Amino acid sequence: MIYLTNNNIYKFAKKDNGGVMSVLKTANSNVFSQDSITKRLQVKNLLESTKMVSTIAGSDVIQGLTQTPKTLPSKYFYDDRGSELFEAICELPEYYPTRTETSILQKYAGEIADITGACELVELGSGSSSKTRILLDAYKHKNLPLRYLPIDVSAGMLETSARKLLTDYPSLQVHALAATYNMALSHLQPSPLPSRTIAFIGSSLGNLNPYECDRFFSQITDALQMGEYFLLGIDLQKPKHILEAAYNDAQGVTAAFNLNMLEHLNRRFEGDFDTTQFEHWAFYNQVENQIEMHLHSLRSQTVELRALNLKVHFELGETIHTEISRKFNLQTIQNELQAKGLVPQKAWTDENQWFGLILSQMQI
Ligand code: AVI
Repeated sequence: MIYLTNNNIYKFAKKDNGGVMSVLKTANSNVFSQDSITKRLQVKNLLESTKMVSTIAGSDVIQGLTQTPKTLPSKYFYDDRGSELFEAICELPEYYPTRTETSILQKYAGEIADITGACELVELGSGSSSKTRILLDAYKHKNLPLRYLPIDVSAGMLETSARKLLTDYPSLQVHALAATYNMALSHLQPSPLPSRTIAFIGSSLGNLNPYECDRFFSQITDALQMGEYFLLGIDLQKPKHILEAAYNDAQGVTAAFNLNMLEHLNRRFEGDFDTTQFEHWAFYNQVENQIEMHLHSLRSQTVELRALNLKVHFELGETIHTEISRKFNLQTIQNELQAKGLVPQKAWTDENQWFGLILSQMQI
């Protein structure tokens, strides 16, 4: 059972109905009481207090669909189905970023732990926290205390992955925040451990445009104290055919992910998008060094979003721009971090130099 207190902190129940303490059994037969998990877990939901903001959020759909060319914010990819499809993308043979970043973490997590020492690990966009386990293992192996603060917009995903982590890491404390990055970064309390690392891995930085990226780095700078760390994972520039294959996979999972945005809008804003009348289109823009994803109208059609009181006309072949995924130069990003006072301590890549991981330290 889960209950919600006045200040929006979820706690996991201590006793089952018969008053007998419930226990969780893991696959490897470790047994932990739910009491022990309760003591080590908090999930704070900052999104609950911002329902107004999410109503206003429909205004970004109106704005995007009434401009030329049409656009939609990539945040609308991530309803439950979209999050599942993204997890499936990460497993695809063509989608190299996840496995490449994982291999870098596996090789160098020990070095990262050596540099930061005991710290609070704040992870932005934690999702299923699967790559985080590699870092947690490295700190555990070195007997370094660690507190984990996953931050994600999906409260459900946060709870599920936090419970799994607490079962597998018996001395871990998890303080999860259901929040947007902006909200979470401005709500961080000083770390009770000697240092803090904010991790932003998975190359989600690539989904921000240069202006948003600059603003995001400033927010990181504001959230860190002198001497604390920022761990950033970025996808690097590489030949066009490798990039285009990663966003046009043979099984069509990326196409389903892109089209699911329309299903999400249908549900959320009482829409009537017919997803069979739009097609996924992704290509690498070599001038901007970014993958661009679009949805391309297969006929002349008008779509209605009743909850937004909006009718939108599409010409045959007209597109909606749904995402950019920027590909970086490792040195350029390190210069940008340095200019913000986030001084790179070390950068790691894989043998093909397809993906980079940078650990910076706040020095102003
Ligand atoms: C979440 N983000 C880093 C992914 C990317 O590669 O830009 C989202 C994605 N879009 C299509 N495939 C994956």
